[in-house]
Amino acid sequence: MAVMVCVITSPAIVGLDTATVQVEVDLRPGLPAFAVVGLPDAAVQEARERVRSGIANQGYRVPPVRIVANLAPADLRKAGPQYDLPIALAILAGAEQLSPSAVAGVGAAGELALDGTLRPVAGTLAMAEHAARHGWRALVVPVQNAAEAALVEGETTIIPVGSLREAAEVLAGERPVPIVAPAPWPPDVRNDVPDLCDVHGQPAARRALEIAAAGMHSLLMVGPPGGGKTMLARRIPGLLPPLTRDDAITLTRIHSVAGRLPPGQGLMSRRPFRAPHHSISAAGLVGGGRLPQPGEVTLAHLGVLFLDEVGAFQPQVLDALRQPMEHGVVDVVRAMASARFPARPLLVCAGNPCPCGHADDPGGRCVCPPGRAETYQARLSGPVADRIDIRIEVPRVDSAALIEGVPDEPSSAVAARVEAADARRIERGQQYPNARLQGTALRKAVSLDGNGRRVMESAMTRLGLTARGFDRVLRVARTIADLDSSRKVGESHLLEAVGLRAYRSLG
Ligand SMILES: Nc1ncnc2c1ncn2[C@@H]1O[C@H](COP(=O)(O)OP(=O)(O)OP(=O)(O)O)[C@@H](O)[C@H]1O
Ligand SMILES: [Mg+2]
Ligand SMILES: [Zn+2]
Repeated sequence: MAVMVCVITSPAIVGLDTATVQVEVDLRPGLPAFAVVGLPDAAVQEARERVRSGIANQGYRVPPVRIVANLAPADLRKAGPQYDLPIALAILAGAEQLSPSAVAGVGAAGELALDGTLRPVAGTLAMAEHAARHGWRALVVPVQNAAEAALVEGETTIIPVGSLREAAEVLAGERPVPIVAPAPWPPDVRNDVPDLCDVHGQPAARRALEIAAAGMHSLLMVGPPGGGKTMLARRIPGLLPPLTRDDAITLTRIHSVAGRLPPGQGLMSRRPFRAPHHSISAAGLVGGGRLPQPGEVTLAHLGVLFLDEVGAFQPQVLDALRQPMEHGVVDVVRAMASARFPARPLLVCAGNPCPCGHADDPGGRCVCPPGRAETYQARLSGPVADRIDIRIEVPRVDSAALIEGVPDEPSSAVAARVEAADARRIERGQQYPNARLQGTALRKAVSLDGNGRRVMESAMTRLGLTARGFDRVLRVARTIADLDSSRKVGESHLLEAVGLRAYRSLG
């Protein structure tokens, strides 16, 4: 037998980007052997085992020759077992168990189980986009990832398969290409997000949530245990405006690359809610890893990032939020690969006012030593104060509200007002939420008249507002005016916005 070289391509995921990997298999006479080069050492052994048994268990033959599979370029870090399928297909083609013309111009990605069936891989949507962008003829993917691949429009035929044999037979034209319909848009709005109607009383907190949702303003809730802070935070995704299809695609790409897309789900049509535990590392929060992986702040992109018991997070971990909160992106820089991830969540933090939790309760229930609440508060808000637009107290819910159990307003009613406010922003030609207004765009969106100036001057002296705090009040006031269907930001809007920073003054 002469030397046979067969090449098939596979899209590699680098951060959220992709690159083409050539999977080249070289078969030549000699003692039977199987080497894989171009993968990190640890992964090679496992890939060989899976490919060898996958081929044999699907009723094909591993040719008894010297096989070298080379994954190029060598200097690109390759992760994961997605190269099993292209290696196996290239071996079949090289050994003429599959016509080499059947795999020409074809890409493939998939992990093989030992029996030769396929396991899902991360990042299929990004891979399908890559294939379409580069004019690949077809892309073979595991059937579990078919729905995300089907979202991509283009000339590339997506071939979702359940096993190596199915892949080979479809490529050889012995079986039809399985058809997958893309997920419908707009999505089915069946909502399993918890509803605001479960929260009794707490009118001030409900109002703050509505404003936060309408302008994507970051929010800090402080109050005694059991006041309902966690409960309120979980309901915010249900108040945010509906996603556009482009945003849903972006979210799907992110969650797929992170390997977090629920199996079979084609499109993330709901805004994410992420609530990492306070023991999380900086890399876990903002992203990291030898091959850069998105962190919680990116997984929460366009949704809610909830830091419960925010005072218990390591200050340096909170500090890592600085770049994403200011720029809306995270750069993960590593020796082997770097990546930039989008990161624009609505940040929601919650905490108690002191270690025992009762510093603000009427009747002096707090058992903390004098001064302890103040140092605790400084710790709580120090690193995050700069990034918080709205800070409210969530008191113990008044028992009458609980006992009466009068049905409170549902999320749908609040969401409708939020959507109307958001429409006003779009009407103004403003492409991003009010929380991102700055500089001249902010001054233009909020022009103060004489009364407005007086309100702001008095707030600056009374609350010791910093320049940053001043801008935050203006942004929140813009949102309040939008909720009020008002083009102008008036005195009442400003006063309410100032009130949303006044609790234990945020500066
Ligand atoms: N306003 C409310 N309406 C209805 N139930 C409430 C309300 N507030 C609290 N609860 C009940 O109390 C429980 C605890 O509320 P939640 O966990 O949200 O409080 P929290 O403010 O986050 O407390 P902690 O400071 O201890 O984290 C809820 O699961 C709910 O059953
Ligand atoms: Mg809680
Ligand atoms: Zn206390």
